[in-house]
Amino acid sequence: MKKRVFSGARPTGRQHIGNYLGAIQNYVSLQAEYECVYCIVDIHALTTLQGIEGVQGLQQNVQEMILDWLAAGLDPQKSILFVQSEVPEVTELHTLLSMSTPLGWLMRVPTFKEKVKMQPDNVNYGLLGYPVLMTSDIVLYKAEVVPVGEDQLPHLELAREIVRRFNSLYGDTFPEPQPKLTQAPMIVGLDGTQKMSKQLNNHIELAATAEETAQRIMTAYTDPARKRKSDPGHPETCNIFHLHEAFEPVKAKGIPAECRSAKIGCVECKRLLAQEINAALAPLRERRSELAGKPEYVNEVLSDGARRAQAIARKTIREVKERMNLVRKGT
Ligand code: TRP
Repeated sequence: MKKRVFSGARPTGRQHIGNYLGAIQNYVSLQAEYECVYCIVDIHALTTLQGIEGVQGLQQNVQEMILDWLAAGLDPQKSILFVQSEVPEVTELHTLLSMSTPLGWLMRVPTFKEKVKMQPDNVNYGLLGYPVLMTSDIVLYKAEVVPVGEDQLPHLELAREIVRRFNSLYGDTFPEPQPKLTQAPMIVGLDGTQKMSKQLNNHIELAATAEETAQRIMTAYTDPARKRKSDPGHPETCNIFHLHEAFEPVKAKGIPAECRSAKIGCVECKRLLAQEINAALAPLRERRSELAGKPEYVNEVLSDGARRAQAIARKTIREVKERMNLVRKGT
């Protein structure tokens, strides 16, 4: 039997090429080998959003994200694609697992400490329980493999500890989930220094038009040591070169020599990159706009995904409740 993969992503709206190269492409290729469950974790998003204004963009973000996922090749025939809050069993499991999760483990999580610093006025209980909810996501489906970025490794380590503790207290119930790190290197944003992110506005959206893509690339930072075209460049530290490598690895091999010897200028190099990205994304963008015109279909994908996920979730919950002696005799 195929092993099961689970991964979750917060609904951040339109995805950018960093998300695509770092996560989505990996999700797509795992579909060939595993039984995949991919979840848009809207409840997790609520740990950092608050109030009417905070949540007002949630539905739109879920829509944009599922459009990007489907356009990129996540296939509802092969994978279960769903929204976290539509399978509420996860919150039940979260509560049950919280009973055997020591507070000390949660307080030591690096992302919790960061969030406390970032939002000192909103240090909510959900923030502390974030890794327990994430563990619940994974083990509700008894997933064994979890594709994640490096930043999620502490969460996954904790998930395994939570699982080990539960299994030792109540008997073997859940497999210990293993992280599967994405091969793709971190994609640096158009500012040339930080990871590509929507928040930093240094990104290129998957759904951007060809013109927008070219325009954003033209304004990107390149090698700061290269002020004139005649200055030799340093491709190894240039974000534009790294994007060439990510999109056209074969063609990119010729660039370093031309850049170091100043044969190619940054403007030309960027123009080429824009062409490459636009060519690579054209089919995805076409599928995306088709899907955007079929909202009933997209809704049905998510409703069907939730139904299939829930069928698995119910079985797990029943088993957990039996082990915790929460099932009344004869029911
Ligand atoms: N914490 C993950 C992130 O911020 C999102 C997430 C929630 C997740 N549940 C998950 C990832 C389960 C993998 C598996 O990116």
